[in-house]
Amino acid sequence: MMSTLPDFLPFPKHFRFGTAVAAFQVEGNSGKRNSDWDVFLRENPKIVKPNEVGPEWWKKGMAEGDIDLMAGLGMQTQRLSFEWARIEPEEGHINHDALRRYREIIDHLHKKKIMPVVTLNHYTLPEWIARRGSWENPTIIHSFAKYVSVVAHEFGDIRIWLTLNEPGVLVEIGYLSPFFPPQREGLISAIKAHENLLKAHKKAYWVLKSFIPHSKVSIAFDFRWYRPQDPNDPFETWYANIVDYFDSLNYVDGVKDTLDFIGCNFYAGYLLNFNLSKLKFRLHGSQTVPPRTILFGEVRKPHAYVSDLGAPIVPGFFLELLQFLSKRYHKPIIITENGIADRRDLHRGFYLLVHLVAIWQAIQLGVDIRQYLVWSTVDNLEWLEGYRQEFGIVHVDAVTGKRTVRKSAHLYSDIISQRGIHIKKLLDEYVEGEQKERAATLIHNLLTHHGKEAVKNVLPPQS
Ligand code: BGC
Repeated sequence: MMSTLPDFLPFPKHFRFGTAVAAFQVEGNSGKRNSDWDVFLRENPKIVKPNEVGPEWWKKGMAEGDIDLMAGLGMQTQRLSFEWARIEPEEGHINHDALRRYREIIDHLHKKKIMPVVTLNHYTLPEWIARRGSWENPTIIHSFAKYVSVVAHEFGDIRIWLTLNEPGVLVEIGYLSPFFPPQREGLISAIKAHENLLKAHKKAYWVLKSFIPHSKVSIAFDFRWYRPQDPNDPFETWYANIVDYFDSLNYVDGVKDTLDFIGCNFYAGYLLNFNLSKLKFRLHGSQTVPPRTILFGEVRKPHAYVSDLGAPIVPGFFLELLQFLSKRYHKPIIITENGIADRRDLHRGFYLLVHLVAIWQAIQLGVDIRQYLVWSTVDNLEWLEGYRQEFGIVHVDAVTGKRTVRKSAHLYSDIISQRGIHIKKLLDEYVEGEQKERAATLIHNLLTHHGKEAVKNVLPPQS
């Protein structure tokens, strides 16, 4: 298979590469912060041990050190988020020290010629908002707009903004099911949160436009892409489409007039079948609890590649999703997250390589993709998993904070410096053993098929 692969896949001149983090996940415990997640972690002390602090970006010099590392690897973009609970610890009280700390980080990015992409809300909420009912209470729409106006007033030099991160995931695991704060468990809660999140986005969009007219604004949507186990079964296909619609597309549809681009978080795709005996209203639990109605089908077979969190590696799904989004919305796309929990860095190089090939192929097929951001810059606090799941291209010892650049970071860095993918060279240098032939097959299939075909061909044949 190797011999049939092209040598080099060049990326367009203006395409940008980078990595992503979120405030609560990297900032550590220092400084004043009273968010719903601070309360939640205090109530659930097993998630983070007292001596675990992670990358500690809130401490002067720590974020800067990692930004220097990223600059050294050639990164051109850094996605990060601002913590509402730090900026507005009590209603109407603006913490200027917090704004100054974010200013230092943004200035450091500019100094290193790295473009900031800022998320205004990455799951966490100030405790004073949580006391009022979090996203269930419509007053949050106005409060959020006020917070956004404070930030937009201070940071007119930031061009690309994401108002929210994964509203679909938040509604599902914080309101429909009780895994994330505010731990509600009801359809009415979910419907209210869904509605208020989308309204808050729309209002924030216009606030950003009024302060920063040239800004580009979107949401980082989660796309767990579901396809039918049997693509020839019209009922199963219909069912997969419905699940995709309720899981992600309805959020995009709901705000499509206030999106300058589509922010796309993609980790994995799943085969789905319709099995009434397994049907539960709840599709997903926390990431460690397998989804209930979903059959992983062939991708779960013993030799299939899966991440530490059990997510199958299916770049063909990614390619199909990108084509689909482009056709449906006619907007530019930024890949706001893509990555793998892989503590030992056994699959990450493989994962990044095949997903970047999928992006390259999508671009050839006419999809307008502007940036690719790997989740994550550094190992960080993986929500319910604490520091036990490691997504970073740089390893961070959660207790000592010691950094170690992973091998996969060098693969990514090679692609950035070459502005393209030297397939054979990268497979030789970074992908080992039987992974190499497997990667070559995936790449071959991505380059020779597209759309539904690509999906069929990246999955092992049905037995
Ligand atoms: C979230 C991140 C999270 C990552 C890995 C995304 O859904 O935006 O906050 O760490 O997935 O699970």
